[in-house]
Amino acid sequence: MADLPGIANNPDIRFLGKLLGDVIRNYGGEALYARTESIRTASVDRHRTKNGDSGPESDLGLDALNLDETLDFVRGFMLFSMLANLAEDRQGVTAEQGADVAAALERLAGEGIDKAQVMDLLGHTLIAPVLTAHPTEVRRKSMIDHRNRIAALMRLRDAEVTETPDGDDVEEAILRQIALLWQTRVLRRERLYVTDEVEIALSYLRDVFLPALPALYQRWDRALGERVPSFLKPGSWIGGDRDGNPFVTAESLKAALAKASEAVLGYYMDAVHALGAELSISTQLAPADDAVIALANASGDTAESRSDEPYRRALSGIYARLAATHLALTGKPAPRAAALKGERYPDPQAFRADLVTIARALRHDGGALSSGGALGRLIRACETFGFHLATLDLRQNSAVHERVVAELLKVAGVEGDYLSLNESQRVSLLRHELSNARPLASPFADYSDETKSELAIVRAAADAHATYGPACIVQHIVSMAQSVSDLLELNILLKEVGLYRGGENPSAAIMAVPLFETIGDLEAAPGIMTEWFSLPEVRGITAARSFQEVMIGYSDSNKDGGYLTSTWSLSKASTALKGVFAGAGVGMQLFHGRGGAVGRGGGSAFAAIRAQPSGTVQGRIRITEQGEVIAGKYGTRESAITNLEAMASATLLASLEPDALSAADTQRFSAAMDTLSASAFAAYRDLVYGTEGFRTFFRQMTPIVEIAGLKIGSRPASRTKSDKIEDLRAIPWVFSWAQARVMLPGWYGVGQALDAFEDKGLLAEMAQGWPFFAASLANMEQVIAKSDMDIAARYATLVEDRALADAIFPRIVTGWQQAHDGLLAVTGQSRLLEAHPALDASIRLRLPYIEPLNLLQIELIKRRRAGDEDERIGEGILLSINAIATALRNSG
Ligand code: PGA
Repeated sequence: MADLPGIANNPDIRFLGKLLGDVIRNYGGEALYARTESIRTASVDRHRTKNGDSGPESDLGLDALNLDETLDFVRGFMLFSMLANLAEDRQGVTAEQGADVAAALERLAGEGIDKAQVMDLLGHTLIAPVLTAHPTEVRRKSMIDHRNRIAALMRLRDAEVTETPDGDDVEEAILRQIALLWQTRVLRRERLYVTDEVEIALSYLRDVFLPALPALYQRWDRALGERVPSFLKPGSWIGGDRDGNPFVTAESLKAALAKASEAVLGYYMDAVHALGAELSISTQLAPADDAVIALANASGDTAESRSDEPYRRALSGIYARLAATHLALTGKPAPRAAALKGERYPDPQAFRADLVTIARALRHDGGALSSGGALGRLIRACETFGFHLATLDLRQNSAVHERVVAELLKVAGVEGDYLSLNESQRVSLLRHELSNARPLASPFADYSDETKSELAIVRAAADAHATYGPACIVQHIVSMAQSVSDLLELNILLKEVGLYRGGENPSAAIMAVPLFETIGDLEAAPGIMTEWFSLPEVRGITAARSFQEVMIGYSDSNKDGGYLTSTWSLSKASTALKGVFAGAGVGMQLFHGRGGAVGRGGGSAFAAIRAQPSGTVQGRIRITEQGEVIAGKYGTRESAITNLEAMASATLLASLEPDALSAADTQRFSAAMDTLSASAFAAYRDLVYGTEGFRTFFRQMTPIVEIAGLKIGSRPASRTKSDKIEDLRAIPWVFSWAQARVMLPGWYGVGQALDAFEDKGLLAEMAQGWPFFAASLANMEQVIAKSDMDIAARYATLVEDRALADAIFPRIVTGWQQAHDGLLAVTGQSRLLEAHPALDASIRLRLPYIEPLNLLQIELIKRRRAGDEDERIGEGILLSINAIATALRNSG
C-alpha cells in the first residue's frame, strides 16, 4: 500500500503501509493485492472529493470480492488501521500535549503556587488508574504483542540503527512481524475466561507499571527538588468485579491476588539479586555504617569470600527473606532458590526498612552513590506496589446484596421478609445487626448458590487481608446504589467475616463505595451521602480513615439521559457532594467510571480531570481504564509514562489552580447548562425511550446482535434476558452505534438543545471560558467527525419495517445536523476540528478505510439475516466489527 494519497504525509504510515502491501502481495497473492489497492484508491479518491453531503455513489468495486477475498480484504484494512494507529501513537498524535508535571509546576508557579504547596497536597494525594476487564478490546493479546514488537523495532529504525541487538536487519524484522500479523487469527475461538483477563492485566502491571512508575517518580523528585510521597498507585477490578459476571468467584479473587503477589515478589527478587551483583563495596576500601553491618550479620551469610562485603551479605539476607515471603504468600517456592534461610517479611514496610538501611549507608559513606538509581527505584516500587502489586476492588450489584442479606436474616430467624421492608425499616434493622457482634450465617444452613458465593467472596477478602495486608483490597463498590441500606447491607456481609467490627469504635477494613450511575441516582447522591454521614457508626468508620470514596458512572448515566445530561449530572453531583463531604468533615475521593468512547465518558483524561468542578479533586482521584484504552495508554513504557504523567499533572492543576470562573459566571453558566441539559434530556428520552418501535429499530439497524459473538470478555453480554434498552449494558449500546457510524450516545440531543437556546452569545462565552463546556464540546466534536450519516443511512436499510425506519432515521439525521451546525456556531469554526489539525488529519486518514468495511458489513449482515448459513459470513461480520473498531480507535 505504497505511495498513495491519504497516507503520503506521514512517513511511518507510508513505510508500514508499503510493507503491509508487500505482505499481502506475497501471502495473499497478486490478485488480492490488486483488488485491495483498487478499492482503497477509489475510497481515498472519493473521500478526497467528498464535500460532506454526497453519499456513497458506488460500492467501490466491493461487489467483485468473493467471500474468501472479502475476509482477506477486511483483515488487510484492519491491519492497515492497526499500523496507522501505531504510527500516530509514535508521533504523539494521540498523546496528551504539554501535560507533564514540570509544565504543571511552572504553570502553578505563574499563579503564585509554590512547590511547598504542591508538596503539601502530595502528602495526602492518591491518584489511581484502575484497570478493568470491560469488554471493548477487540484485539487478541497476540496481535497487540506483535504491534508492540513493531513499535520497538521502529524505535531502532528512528535511531538509524540497521541491526537489532540479535543481528537481524531492522527493516526485515519489521516485515517479518507484519507477516506474522497477517498470519495470526484475528478472532478468538473461545470466550475469554476470567483467568485470561487476570493474565492480560497482569502483563501490563508487571511489564509496564512496575518498571515505569519508579522511573517516573525519579523524574518527579527532580522536578520538585525533593523526594515526593508515593502518591500514584495502580488498581484493578479483574478477579473482583462480579457485577453481572457470574464467572467471577472467590476462586478468581484468590487466583488474581496470588498471581499479582507472585509477579511483584518476583520483580523484587530479581532487583535485589541484581543489586547484590552491583554493590560489591568492600570495607577495606570504604567503611560501612553499623546498621548495614548489623543487617549483614543478621543475614546468616558467613561466606569467607564475602566477609568484607556487608552490602552483598545484607542483600543475600534480604533475598532469603523475600524467598520465604514468596513461599508464604503464593504457596510456591521462589523461582531462584535462596542460598540462605530467612524469616518471611511480615509486611512490605519491613522489606522497605531493610532497603532504606542500605540506602542510608550508601548516602552516608558512598559520596557518589546516592539513594537514587536501582536501589531508589526499588524502594519506590515497594512503597507503590507493596506485596500485592495493585489494589484489587470488589464490585457487586446492590440487588444481589439485598437478596443475600434477606436470606441470611431469614435463615437466622431475625426477619422473615427483609425485601418487603421500607428503607427506614431496613436501615434500623441493619444498624441493629451491625451493632451485634454475633454473625448471621450458620455453617450448617443450606443457602442459595448466590448467598454461598457472596459469603465465599467476603471470606476470601478477609483471608487476603490477613495474607497480603489491608492494601490489597481497600474498596468494595456497590453498583446501582440507591440508598443508605445498599451500603449497610454490604457492611453486614463484611461483618460476617470480621471485616466490619461494631462496638464503641466501629471500623470497616474494606470501604463500602456507592456507585451512582443513573441520572436519578446522581441527583439523589448528595441526599444519600448526607444520610450516610449522619449515622453514628459511619462517623466512626470514616473518622478512622479520614476519607470516603464515591464512584460515579459515565456510561449508564449517558444511556439513561443522553450525552449532555449525563456529563452535566456528573458534574453537578460532584459539586453537591463536595458540600456534603465538607459539612461532614470527611475527605472526598471520587472514582470516575469511564470508558474509552465518548458515549461512555471517554476523551482526553487530561482535559477531563482539569474540567472537574472546582474543589472536587483535592488530590484524590481514581479513574477506570478499560478495554482498548489500556493497550493505547499503557501498551509500552513510553506511552505509560506519558499518560501517567498527564494524569498526575492534571490532578495537580485541578487541585491547586484557582477557579477558572468567577462565582457570578459559575452561576450564569450553570443556569444555562440546566436549561441546555433539560432540553437535551427531553429530546434524547423522547427518541430512545418514548418512540414506539425504537428498540426494534436499534436492534435491526446496528450490529448489536452480532456483537455478542465477538467473545472479547468473560462476562455475559447482558445482565438479564430482557432486550429493553434500560437493561442493556452500556458497552454494546455504545459499541453498536459506533459500528453503524451514528455514534448517537456521543451527541444526540445536544443539537436540539443548542438550537433552542436563545442567548447564543452566552454559549460562545461558555465554550471559550469554561473548561467543562469546552471539554464536553471537544469530545462531541471528535465523535461527530467520526460519524457519517450517509453510511448510517445504509445501515438504516437493515431495518425490515420500512415505515419504522422512515419514521425514526430522519429524526436522527436532523438531530445530527443540528448538533453539527450548533457546534460550529458555538465554537466559531467553519468546519469540524479546525482547531485540531493533527486529530483532523488522523480521522481523515482513516475514513476511507472505514467506509468499505461498513459497506461490506452491511452486505454480510443482510445475507446472514436472510438465512445464509455460510460460516464465512459470520466470520466476516465479526472481522468487520473488529476492523471498524480498530479503525475508529474507540470501540464501545
Ligand atoms: P458496567 O460498566 O456495565 O460494568 O457497569 C458500564 C460501562 O463502563 O460501560
